[in-house]
Amino acid sequence: MAEDLTIIQGTKEEIYQSLIPQIKALLNGEPDLVANMANVAAALKEQFKWFWVGFYLVKEDELVLGPFQGPVACTRIKKGRGVCGAAWQNAQTLIVDDVEKFPGHIACSSLSRSEIVVPIIRNNVVVAVLDVDSETLSQFDETDKKYLEEIILLINF
Ligand code: SME
Repeated sequence: MAEDLTIIQGTKEEIYQSLIPQIKALLNGEPDLVANMANVAAALKEQFKWFWVGFYLVKEDELVLGPFQGPVACTRIKKGRGVCGAAWQNAQTLIVDDVEKFPGHIACSSLSRSEIVVPIIRNNVVVAVLDVDSETLSQFDETDKKYLEEIILLINF
């Protein structure tokens, strides 16, 4: 497909429903994991204009920064630390309405106010997480959880 994204206005549901086929087309036939994570981060950032969108990969019992869109970020996160480390440890998506109220939140940027972290699980093991940060409080909800969980299943980890 042409490497440009059709950006739409609409409800969150409508936006995800427009975005998901485009992400499928971007990933179609491309086996390279870094390329695919990079394009998924870019597509989400371009459509939603979130503050930070990116992946951390589990490497030698730490999360290590992967492809992302947004300001520079911490490179390594230990299991259980911060929202990313907690989502990894619990193997569950975490939605944080106000990061200042999350014990142990790692503030890569003071501008980040709310966050969603989706663990990427293959063969019952968390292999990576998708982390999204917003400058707005309570940005993320069950709709984001549903569709972001669907989107990460499209990537062949
Ligand atoms: N805030 C995250 C760390 C990663 S950055 O925000 C990009 C956390 O608490 O896990």
